[in-house]
Amino acid sequence: MEISVSPDLPQQLEADALVVGVFDGAGLAGPAAAIDQASGGVLRRLVEAKEISGKLYELTPIWTAPNVAAPLVLVVGLGEQAKFDRGLAFRGAAAASRYLAAKPRRRAAFALADGLSEAVLESAVAGAVVGCQGQDLYRAEKNRNPFESLVWLGADEQAVRAGQILGESVNLTRRLVDEPPQQIYPESFCDRAAEMARQTGLEIEIWDEARLQRERAGALLAVARGSTRPPRLLILRHSGGAAGAAPLALVGKGVTFDSGGLSLKPNDSMKTMKCDMAGAAAVLGAMRAIALLKLPVNAIGLAGLVENMPSGSAMKLGDVLAARNGRTIEVQNTDAEGRLVLADVLDVAVERGAARIVDLATLTGACVVALGTDVAALMSNDQPWCDRVAGAASTAGEPLWQLPMFAEYREGIKSEVADIRNTGEGRWGGAISAAKFLEEFVGGTPWAHLDIAGPAFLEKSKPWSDSGASGAFVRTLVELARAEAASGNR
Ligand code: BES
Ligand code: MN
Ligand code: ZN
Repeated sequence: MEISVSPDLPQQLEADALVVGVFDGAGLAGPAAAIDQASGGVLRRLVEAKEISGKLYELTPIWTAPNVAAPLVLVVGLGEQAKFDRGLAFRGAAAASRYLAAKPRRRAAFALADGLSEAVLESAVAGAVVGCQGQDLYRAEKNRNPFESLVWLGADEQAVRAGQILGESVNLTRRLVDEPPQQIYPESFCDRAAEMARQTGLEIEIWDEARLQRERAGALLAVARGSTRPPRLLILRHSGGAAGAAPLALVGKGVTFDSGGLSLKPNDSMKTMKCDMAGAAAVLGAMRAIALLKLPVNAIGLAGLVENMPSGSAMKLGDVLAARNGRTIEVQNTDAEGRLVLADVLDVAVERGAARIVDLATLTGACVVALGTDVAALMSNDQPWCDRVAGAASTAGEPLWQLPMFAEYREGIKSEVADIRNTGEGRWGGAISAAKFLEEFVGGTPWAHLDIAGPAFLEKSKPWSDSGASGAFVRTLVELARAEAASGNR
């Protein structure tokens, strides 16, 4: 999509559709007031008739307003002005864009409001780019039709360019997750990553099965054993910081399909398990943005890629695996495979000298039971680092909530046979026992774990998004890298 900025007055702009914003209870201002004046009070009459209130995500299409060049003006409610932040700018613009993308349109224009900060504008542009892509990749008749071009009024070039990079990176993540599992498996995921790395200048390293064996990645390899698709470990590197400075490591769970293995999932739970590589896809999207934004930080992105399948060669309950860091793991449930994959990838991140680690994983159903589908869980071995991650998420407007990592939870993953086992006692507190398991593989490195099982994949659409992959936490990771750069941890 081509995105440009325009100095035109909203009423004069040549576009197929023009989006203007209205805040709740604030009356008409800025671009909305300009359209109203040019058209002889069309918007004012709708406000008086209570058709336009400015409530968040309210959409009011107005056709052929007099003396307005764009044939369609879409008024979008932005909610209370005092609460309007980057997260709501993203979602508000996405809601408008999603509405317009229901039909093919060549040129869409946005003039949300006057006086928005660069950061808010950047988020709005990203939202507009994300809102017009759906999950209907294989439908003849599309639900969403990305615009050929997008024009932004009252924004500077740089904010628009950064917003485009963010939006397209989120869409890359969403696309990888939405693609069916017969298309995306460890090797093909790496092919997509290699293509992205070539376009962005990221360094890339791909470990094949033989390398993984030489590296003694016994936990990751055990998960892959049941599938005919060989596993991969992907490492992306962005060197924007000082030479030799310890990198920020982003680690993603990349189970390209999770059948559960021999602990087979029931049909309904398996239906959406192509989404089990959303953590890896988020890392890929974030690394793309970090590279294109040329952030002055050293960052590595790692993804463990496997398919979890049952077969004659699959790992069995009772098997004892030797993880790369030397720990032995008793397998008690082959459906608790994500933590096995991450165990070895986290160890590689530590070995690569990561200063700080954040991992993203669609790790547990228990997390969704605890927090619902809209909120991710955050767990950590280091409160200052945890606070930094939470701060980045709050800046990006992506909801998460911290869960405790009390020592008591470690009891549940003790094994009679091996150093640890891959499930807790019973099903209670499952999101935390999974995190306690991961903690065993990060040494003393400050680490934060995001369980994104809820928000990674939407079963139902939202005002700002079609159902399917959400691209959750790509923007948070980029904020985190920005914060690292700003704090001088380069
Ligand atoms: N990929 C699933 C978790 C999941 C559930 C992601 C729902 C997205 C939506 C994970 O591998 C899994 O199966 N976890 C098990 C762990 C259990 C066996 C200890 C679970 O949550 O049931
Ligand atoms: Mn599983
Ligand atoms: Zn899984």
